Amino acid sequence: MCGVVGIVSSTRCVQNIFEGLQRLEYRGYDSAGIATLFEGKIHIAKSEGKLKNLEPLLSKLPQNSGIGMGHTRWATHGAPTTLNAHPHVTDEIALIHNGIIENYRELKETLIREGVKFLSETDSEVVLHLLAKELSKGTAMLDALKGVVKQLHGAYGLGVMWKGDPNSLYIVKQGSPVVIGLGKTENYFASDALALLPLTQKIIFLNDGEIGKITASDVQVWDFSGKLLKRDPSILNWSASSADKAGFRHYMLKEIHEQPAVIANTISRLVNFGSSEINIGELGLNELDLQSVRNIIYVACGTAHYSAMIAKYCVEQMTGIPVSVELASEFRYRDPYLNQNTLVIAVTQSGETADTLACIKHAVSKGCQTYSVCNVRFSSIPRACQATLYMEAGPEVGVASTKAFTSMVLCHYLFGMAFAQEIAKGKSGNSDNNLNATDKKVASRVNFAANFEALKVLPSLVDRAINSSGLIEDVAVKYYESLNCLFLGRGPSFMVALEGALKLKEISYIHAEGYAGGELKHGPIALVDKHMPIVAIAPLDLHYEKMISNIEEVRAREGVIIGVGDINDSKLKSLSVDFIPCPQSQDSCLQTILSVVPMQFLSYFIAVKRGTDVDQPRNLAKSVTVE
Ligand code: F6R
Repeated sequence: MCGVVGIVSSTRCVQNIFEGLQRLEYRGYDSAGIATLFEGKIHIAKSEGKLKNLEPLLSKLPQNSGIGMGHTRWATHGAPTTLNAHPHVTDEIALIHNGIIENYRELKETLIREGVKFLSETDSEVVLHLLAKELSKGTAMLDALKGVVKQLHGAYGLGVMWKGDPNSLYIVKQGSPVVIGLGKTENYFASDALALLPLTQKIIFLNDGEIGKITASDVQVWDFSGKLLKRDPSILNWSASSADKAGFRHYMLKEIHEQPAVIANTISRLVNFGSSEINIGELGLNELDLQSVRNIIYVACGTAHYSAMIAKYCVEQMTGIPVSVELASEFRYRDPYLNQNTLVIAVTQSGETADTLACIKHAVSKGCQTYSVCNVRFSSIPRACQATLYMEAGPEVGVASTKAFTSMVLCHYLFGMAFAQEIAKGKSGNSDNNLNATDKKVASRVNFAANFEALKVLPSLVDRAINSSGLIEDVAVKYYESLNCLFLGRGPSFMVALEGALKLKEISYIHAEGYAGGELKHGPIALVDKHMPIVAIAPLDLHYEKMISNIEEVRAREGVIIGVGDINDSKLKSLSVDFIPCPQSQDSCLQTILSVVPMQFLSYFIAVKRGTDVDQPRNLAKSVTVE
């Protein structure tokens, strides 16, 4: 989605704005622009396509300017042309916008009737002209912005530069993320903190309904009624180097390789092997009333949704509490039955996904308890929830999620264990007041000792999964020209099939679908012929024999099996045209963390062979801040 960056500096700003935009590239965009203010004049450079098209135009901007704003646009209203690229300007004002103005048509028609000429097809330009109209009455900028926001419906993170106040930038937040960064001799704003990481780690996360003003030496924040607010910065714990490629060809490859360390860190942070306990404080469970929880609903999108589907298997089994999983974009528009005994859990890497955030707001309004599993500290979703389990996976820049998925699955597993642990202690419980009886019930469901053993060896198994990647490259070379691909799995491996198919289509643009093995005969088997590669995920779990039957069904129709399973599984090997070995966990939910690694590599190598843009695949955005 669109990215915004603004800087007010006592020295030069153009290069830093450009570099800030480069750090926002991962969000996905199709045009870009920068505006600066120098000696009473607004200067702009804009281009279609990627930042490499904008770079040569930067020399046309006044290099000594200390104030400016940049934008990467992910087209929503109007094609990705230079004319539609931001900043939008009048003689007096430059404006950048992330989000969607839902009532822009009505506003535009009124403005046109009043004689305003529009240069672009965007919804954003409406805001520019509304602001120009307010300012033309002699109104101060803060009051003008207060007047404009009253007229807007939708989501917006706005940056505004104005000749009338040449040493300040104004920022408005409603629905779309905007942060303010505090420097020593300069201040910044951006759509996320990652853009500012090398410049500062002191960040003020604006809330919806707030207006900010930055100069080189000062920051002020008001609410939409004009009340001045006291906002202290948070200090980010991400280092600047965590946002670079560290010698890898792509961010995605780097992030795949980071998984053993992320998994190991999460386990050491959340698990106390000495006392065989999960650190429930770190999980934020002390902030919930677990005692009253009678059902759990996960809401999420995309990869995060698949991770939550794995939570359904492990959390429900461990806690004995019914778990359902919903797509955030569906949940928010139906009228789900919710009450104060429902715990709604948002799963989100970015913490900014608009649909997931809307679900949480709805759940809060219905009196539910709310919790999130999230990677980005201080982002909007954790701030809207009662408690959060932070993944601490470090920035994920590749658009296709990798380490966030495995980290989410681990977090769900540990959440389930922690909840079960609390039930066993009698601190929560869905049904039983009798401690001993509850204790027994949990003990019959959860083999804590086995779970701790499985967790202990997990990081080294993930490491092994990563070290078999050479073989996968050979498989990719064989299949990279395929037009279609199916992925099959059963039990928790069904979600590995879904995630494998999503990864492949996202970055290689090959049509791919994931199915539960048992569903094959109910339709998809019609697609199987000798041209159809079928990735069969068949770990040695209780679904193994059934998967083998599904594989036989495919073979009987000449389908091409790429088996993924235990290195010593001679049966699977003999049934596969190609075989990818994968380490095995004793736990079928933790197995998904291992089995998904070959899926990540397979899609990565196929995409590289096809020459697609691995880190920023076409049409996709990392942080989906519009509906
Ligand atoms: C796919 C992918 C997306 C995200 C989805 C939700 O690789 O990354 O499907 O999982 O857009 O994003 P978050 O987790 O930020 O809410």
